[in-house]
Parts: sequence; structure tokens; C-alpha cells
Amino acid sequence: MSGGAVVEPDQYGLAGHPVAHSWSPFIHGMFAKATAQNLVYRLFDIAPEAFRRETLRLLTSGVRGLNITLPHKQSAAELVNELTPRAARAQAVNTIALFDDAKLIGDNTDGVGLISDLEQNLGITLHQKRVLVLGAGGAVRGVLAPLLERDLAQLVVANRTAAKARRLVAEFGDLGPVMGCGFDEIDGPPYDLIVNGTSASLQGEMPEMPVGLIGEETVCYDMAYGRGHTPFTLWAKSLHAKRTTKGWGMLVEQAAAAFALWRGIRPDTKPVLQALEAHR
Ligand code: ATR
Repeated sequence: MSGGAVVEPDQYGLAGHPVAHSWSPFIHGMFAKATAQNLVYRLFDIAPEAFRRETLRLLTSGVRGLNITLPHKQSAAELVNELTPRAARAQAVNTIALFDDAKLIGDNTDGVGLISDLEQNLGITLHQKRVLVLGAGGAVRGVLAPLLERDLAQLVVANRTAAKARRLVAEFGDLGPVMGCGFDEIDGPPYDLIVNGTSASLQGEMPEMPVGLIGEETVCYDMAYGRGHTPFTLWAKSLHAKRTTKGWGMLVEQAAAAFALWRGIRPDTKPVLQALEAHR
């Protein structure tokens, strides 16, 4: 019997604040097993003021890639050496990859994650639909261009701080019909799709919304995930939305795209989606 040297696993992880609730280690663990990749995936809780220092320390001491979650997605775009075109468009990064031990590439897989979940997993067609997105932070930045590329009839981005929504949509106006406003300025008729990209659910809150946004054909998608209902899905249910769904599928699909960037191999998302079914 020949005793080969034990190969240390490559290190990856999630940087955010908070991160304890994250299912990313489970998801990347399943991907790694299914694709026979020798890696570990850890959670790094990093406060905003320490983000740059801590992230650079991790990436220069053996960590080869990071997912980035709130509130760091925009800071991450400023930290990397190079942005992929979709991350440059978003000015937000949810995936960092270290290449050739020297170059930090920032990518954004949130958009493909959301679109894949909507179209492939949920069977929703976006062409010529009216879509309302709530929130104007790092998570929303990544999904606006991919949504507009689906040739929507209208995209409204509404935020608690209206000026932030208006500033944000100004960066995407060349891609299609998009407007920004405050929550109290949103008007009907009911939307085909409402996506919650605020972090209000994490605080157990649902911001006050005008009436008439939800009709019997409206699909309501919360980018947040967790067990049971969120304040957003409860709100949608109470107004008899056609369907309410949480961001588990987006989470798995964006993770698969990040994994592909890191390892050059695309994992199958179906077994992971099935495994998570019990926790939804
Ligand atoms: P993320 O990366 O998840 O987008 P973020 O960049 O910190 O995180 O953005 C958080 C988003 O949730 C913002 O749109 C924020 O609204 P403001 O721009 O007005 O701060 C929104 N948000 C957070 N808490 C909220 C709440 N309780 N009600 C409504 N919106 C909220």
C-alpha cells in the first residue's frame, strides 16, 4: 500500500455581517461532494469597518474565494483588482475569486441566480412583464440588469429612501424602462412580479405598502430565505397573491455560478434544492 501525502482542502467561505444563519456551507459542501472537489467552506463574520483589512488578510493567507453578503457587496466591488462585466454593471460583488495567487476577480452571480430560479425552477416568463423590486441596496444592484435584459414592460425600483432608488435606476436607464421611487409613490395596476430585496425581513419587518399592488396573478418573491413565512410573504399571502416564494432557489443558483467560477465545474443544483426542501 502506498501512503500518499494528505492534500489539504482548498479554502472558501462567506464574508458578511451577520452570517450565522447562512446555508452556504451546506450548499457548497454538497456541490464539492458531488463534483469530487477537495475544499472547505467557512463562515466569516466581518464588521463593516474591518471588511477591507480582514478580507485581504483571508485572501492572502490561503483562502481562494469568498462569497460576499450584506452589507459588504459594494465595498467588495472596490476591493478587487478586476470586475467581470456583470459585476461592473452592478457595482456590487457577491463572489471574489483569487486567480494565479495574485489577482482578485469580483463577480456578481445574484442576477443569474434570481433569473435561473424564476425561469427554470419556477417556470415564470419575464418577457413584457411588469416587475416591482423593493430595496436599493447591494442585493438589488445585482439583479436589475439581468431583469431588464429579459425585455420587461416596466421595472419599478422602490426603496425606503426614495433618493437612493432614483440614483440607482439612473445607472440602468440605458437598458430599458426602469423608474425609481419611494414606497408611498408606487402605484398600480397590480404587478406580475414583486421581488423583495430589502433586508427588512431579516429584522422581522414589512414596510408599509400602498394598496393595489397585488392581484390574483401576482407572484411575490422574497430574496430572503429561512424557515416558514417572512413578513413579506405573509403580506403577499394576506392579499391573495397567486404565489409566494422565498430565495432558496436564488441562493442555490447563485452559489452554483460562484462554484463554477472558482472550480471550473458547474454543479447540478437539483439535488441541493431537493435536500433543502425540508428546511423551507
Ligand atoms: P443588501 O446587500 O441586502 O441589499 P444593503 O445594501 O444594506 O443590503 O441594503 C439594504 C436594503 O434594505 C436597502 O434598500 C434598505 O433601505 P434604505 O436604503 O432606505 O436603507 C432596505 N431596508 C433595510 N431595512 C429596512 C426596513 N426595515 N424597511 C424597509 N427597507 C429596509
